Amino acid sequence: MATPWWRDAVIYQIYPRSFADGDGDGIGDLDGIRHRLGHLADLGVDAIWMSPWYPSPMADAGYDVADFRDIDPVFGTLAGAESLIREAHAAGLRMIVDIVPNHVSRAHPWFAAALASPDAPERDYFWFRPGGDTAPTGWRSEFGGPAWTRTTNPDGTPGDWYLHLFTPEQPDLNWDHPDVRAEFESILRFWFDRGVDGIRIDSAALLLKDPALPEVADGAPHPYHDRDGVHDIYRAWRRVADEYPGRALIGEVWLPDPERFANYLRPDELHAAFNFDFLGCAWDPGLLRECIDRTLHVHAAVGAPATWVLSNHDVTRHPTRYGRADTTFSFAAKREGVPVDLELGTRRARAATLLSLSLPGAAYVYQGEELGLWEHESIPPGLRQDPMWARSGHGRDGCRVPLPWHGDEPPFGFSPDSAAEPPWLPQPPEWKGLTVAAQRGDPSSMLELYRAALRVRRGEPGLHTPALDWLPAAPGVLAFTRGPGFACVLNLSAAPVALPDHDTRLLASSPLDGDLVPPDTAVWLRLQHR
Ligand code: NOJ
Repeated sequence: MATPWWRDAVIYQIYPRSFADGDGDGIGDLDGIRHRLGHLADLGVDAIWMSPWYPSPMADAGYDVADFRDIDPVFGTLAGAESLIREAHAAGLRMIVDIVPNHVSRAHPWFAAALASPDAPERDYFWFRPGGDTAPTGWRSEFGGPAWTRTTNPDGTPGDWYLHLFTPEQPDLNWDHPDVRAEFESILRFWFDRGVDGIRIDSAALLLKDPALPEVADGAPHPYHDRDGVHDIYRAWRRVADEYPGRALIGEVWLPDPERFANYLRPDELHAAFNFDFLGCAWDPGLLRECIDRTLHVHAAVGAPATWVLSNHDVTRHPTRYGRADTTFSFAAKREGVPVDLELGTRRARAATLLSLSLPGAAYVYQGEELGLWEHESIPPGLRQDPMWARSGHGRDGCRVPLPWHGDEPPFGFSPDSAAEPPWLPQPPEWKGLTVAAQRGDPSSMLELYRAALRVRRGEPGLHTPALDWLPAAPGVLAFTRGPGFACVLNLSAAPVALPDHDTRLLASSPLDGDLVPPDTAVWLRLQHR
C-alpha cells in the first residue's frame, strides 16, 4: 500500500500577508500566491500550509478569526481561495488550511451576540464570569499580561470578565458547550468539501479549561493546558477527517513532556504534530541526537510520523538562532539584540536543512527559509505590528517580513511596481542578495540547495523508509543511514572529519575539502552496496 502523503511530505508554510502582494496595497494576497505557485512547484515541495486567511480585524495577524467560512477582503474572496486550491492541486501541491479553535475574534458574530445581551445563549460559548474588582483568576495571557478583560455595560459601568489566553481581541471559546464542538466539526467539513487536504490546528492543547477555574499550581493538573478531555475533541475530529480519504489533521502542540505530546498522535486522533522539541534544540551533537532519538521513539510508540521543523511565523528565523552563542529557541528568551554571526548561522542553517530533510517523517519549510532569510531585528518600534510587543516587550515581526522576489531595493518584487503602499513591514535593504532572482541558478545559493535537496529526497528510496540507523562516527559527528543505500553525515565538531566509504556524493551543504567534511557541514551520500 502506498505511504499516505502526510507521513513524509515536505510542507511549505505560506504566511499570506508576506508571501506576494498582487494588488499593490503592501499586503500579500491570494492573487500574489496564485501568481507565484510556480516558485513552490519548482522548489519541489509537496504541500502548502496556509496561515489564516479568514475575515479578521487582524489584532493577531489573522489568528483572530471573525468568520471561518470566508476570506478576508485584504487577501481576496472565497471564490479566489477555491481557485487557488484547484490551481495548487493542478501544480501537484496539496493544501492545508489553518483552523483556530481555541478562540475567535471579538468581531465574531457569537461574541457580538454575547456582548449584546446578558441573556444571549452565545454567552455560554465563552468564559464570562461576574464582575468584581479583581479578575476571576490570576492566569496570564500567553502574550503576557492578564488573561481576563472586563466588558463595559451599555450604561458605561464595568461589566463581566471574559477569558482570553492570547490578546483581549481573542476571547476563548468554551469547549464544554456542544454547539462549539458541532460548529467546528461543520467548519472542518466546509473546508474538506472544498478539497483541502489537511487542517493545521492552532494552539491545539489549550481548548479545555477546568470549569472550577483554579489557579495554576505546581503538582495539580493544569487548569487549561493539555487537559485529558481534549483528546475526545480530536477523536471526534478524526472521525470527520476519516469521512474524507487522504485528509490529515496536524496539531500545534507545544508540550515539554514527549509522552503527553504523543498522546495527541494516537491512531484515532491527529495524524501529525509540529516537532518544537527539534526546533528549540541547541546546535549541539549530543542534544540533537538525543532529540532525534526521543522524537523517533515517542512517534513509533503511537505509529505516527515524526515532523521536522526549523522555523515558522512565531519563532526567530534559524540562521539568526544558529549564529548566536546560545542557539536554542524559547519564547521566554527571544534573544533580540544579542550579537549574531550571520555567516556562521547561515552555514549551520544549510547543514540543518540537509539534516532535517533526511530524517524519517514529514518536514516543514517556512516561507523564506529557502532563501536563507534571517530575522529582521531592527524594525523601527513605530512600524512593529505584533501585539506581543506591547504585552511582553518582544515580538514576532522579524520573521514575518515580506519575501524578496527580485530587484535591488524594497519592495523587491513583493508588490507590483505600481504599488500604492510600501510592504506592511519594512524589508532590510541587505536582502538584495537574497531575492529569488539573485539566487536562482547560483549553485552556492540557499535556494539551489533546497531545490537540489528536495529533488534528491524525492528520488532516493532510502529517504522514504521509516527507519534511521546511526553509524559509528567521530566525536561531534552525527552519521546515519536511511535504508541500505543512503547516508547523511553532519559534522558539528570544530575539526574536519573524513567521509565514510561511499559510492557517490549526492549533496553537501558547504564545499568539502577533498574527502574531508568541514565543521558545520552536512553531506548526503549514496553508499556502496553492503
Ligand atoms: C499560535 C499561532 O501560531 C500564533 O501565531 C498565534 O498568535 C497564537 N497561536 C494564537 O492564535
